Amino acid sequence: MFKKLWFAILLVLSLSVAAPHAGAQRKAVDAEGHEWWQHAVFYEIYPRSFADSNNDGVGDLKGITERLDYLKELGVDAIWITPCFPSPQVDFGYDVSDYEQIDPIYGTLGDFDRLVSEGRKRGIKIILDFVVNHTSDQHKWFLDAKSSRTAAHRDWYVWRDGKGPNQPPNNWLSLFGLSAWKFDPTTSQYYYHYFYPEQPDLNWRNPAVEKAMFDVTRYWYKRGVAGFRLDAVDTLFEDRKLTDNPLLPGTDKFGRPKTDEKYNKKLPEVHDVLRKLRKVADEHGAVLIGETWTSDINELKEYYGEHGNELQMPMDFMFTEVNKLSPPDFRKQIAAVDGAGGWPVYVISNHDIVRSYNRYGDGVHNDAIAKLMAALYLTLRGTPILYYGEELGMENNDPKSKDEVKDPIGKLGWPLEKGRDGERTPMQWSDGPNAGFSKATPWLPVPPSAKTHNVATEKKDPNSVLSFYRQLLALRHQQAALLDGKYIPLNEDDPNVLSYLRQYKDESILVVLNMSGTEQKVRFSLAPQGFASVKLTALLADLPGSIQASADQLSLAPFSVLIAKLSK
Ligand code: NOJ
Repeated sequence: MFKKLWFAILLVLSLSVAAPHAGAQRKAVDAEGHEWWQHAVFYEIYPRSFADSNNDGVGDLKGITERLDYLKELGVDAIWITPCFPSPQVDFGYDVSDYEQIDPIYGTLGDFDRLVSEGRKRGIKIILDFVVNHTSDQHKWFLDAKSSRTAAHRDWYVWRDGKGPNQPPNNWLSLFGLSAWKFDPTTSQYYYHYFYPEQPDLNWRNPAVEKAMFDVTRYWYKRGVAGFRLDAVDTLFEDRKLTDNPLLPGTDKFGRPKTDEKYNKKLPEVHDVLRKLRKVADEHGAVLIGETWTSDINELKEYYGEHGNELQMPMDFMFTEVNKLSPPDFRKQIAAVDGAGGWPVYVISNHDIVRSYNRYGDGVHNDAIAKLMAALYLTLRGTPILYYGEELGMENNDPKSKDEVKDPIGKLGWPLEKGRDGERTPMQWSDGPNAGFSKATPWLPVPPSAKTHNVATEKKDPNSVLSFYRQLLALRHQQAALLDGKYIPLNEDDPNVLSYLRQYKDESILVVLNMSGTEQKVRFSLAPQGFASVKLTALLADLPGSIQASADQLSLAPFSVLIAKLSK
């Protein structure tokens, strides 16, 4: 029974979590044995679009360093930078031509070292993106490989004869086009590329590839990197016999026949490599995050490893596929990952996914919904990864015509597939020209909403999405129940309001999220959780004043949030 509802909105600007430096051995940060990454908030930076220090229209590493104080105040503990290595930029960095340098458009190794040391001063760790499945076709390994059938690096990639004249070795398709095989006239063989033809797949069956790639991780660990996000791990191995994938009914949005990619995706050998990569990571106290697209929870479980010896942080993308404000669907998904035995990793957006503002917004209450979604993924048990700009309520700015498109898949699939430019636009720092990102014309245009949704404007407004994120992240760092507490779903048959407790020792925090556009009344029976009667102290509430409590009932305005501490 609720006796009283006390609103005590806590505004805490920042809190630093003491964490060991990269290179240190695994070290617990609490009595439960959790490691730093389990208490950390990660922030994904798309470096082309974050901050442009030299005003050439493309972001850079110095720009990131200049904004570390912003990230610190926001409550970020680690940043994952998408690939910043030398690259022809066909896939904007996901086509790496040298794994041990920095692309000049982003700066120098010196700039990188400075970013690491400035980050360290502020308790912010650096995570790099490791493109493990493929290199650029301009990488020296591939240039050598394609030079002759007997070249030293020939077997570092996947080469095969065609089935016949103009016939690729099998029916495998590239995610970004038609056949996954490209004919190379110099040596009259095909090479395999799951992504663009400019991204030939490495042959992970070759021990020399494994050694070279593991050495890359060692090189960056020594430079102070705290871990890696592993790109495209699903596609590391291909069936040795190159068996055709079975055809499925229908066609995809490129008009190609659908296939079941059972012979070139998620092969068991992937896990052998992950276990070995993890060993190297453990030697350096580092964390491995996985780009793990899974269709069910069992597949996700496999990425943690049978003995917790693969990825510490496989991302749960199934959460991003709940594309409506549906408490039953979220409940189901959260319960599955929370019960999977590993540490959950929540994301709601990234550089390949339409921004959450567009996916969940109803066009009228978008800011309230952005706060609602923040309150969801930042109060669950697990580690959140926040995509830059989500904290402002940045929206997608999709190209208006094919000519404007930069992302090759947008050119290829226009108009059904517009590509990923929309979710990669410049960070909105101010309401000035180019949203304060650059003095030059940015590589992608900023949307008109940058006038209202930007750091400078939102910092001044206590009700902005940014102010909400800052309060929420501060709370998350302060409250043991939010860091370590069990996730206990409540009112599981409520179709409109998602409610749960986070409970740690004798501390309990109640999270109530009205996912509907109408006022909702909820009551809780907390006797099973040990509360005969209960006092609620609101820690954070959106739309303050619109939540009213009577003795045993809460009234919630449309899309409102309540996070409250329970006491007896
Ligand atoms: C996944 C990355 O997130 C995406 O941006 C990229 O195009 C592909 N992997 C290929 O590297």
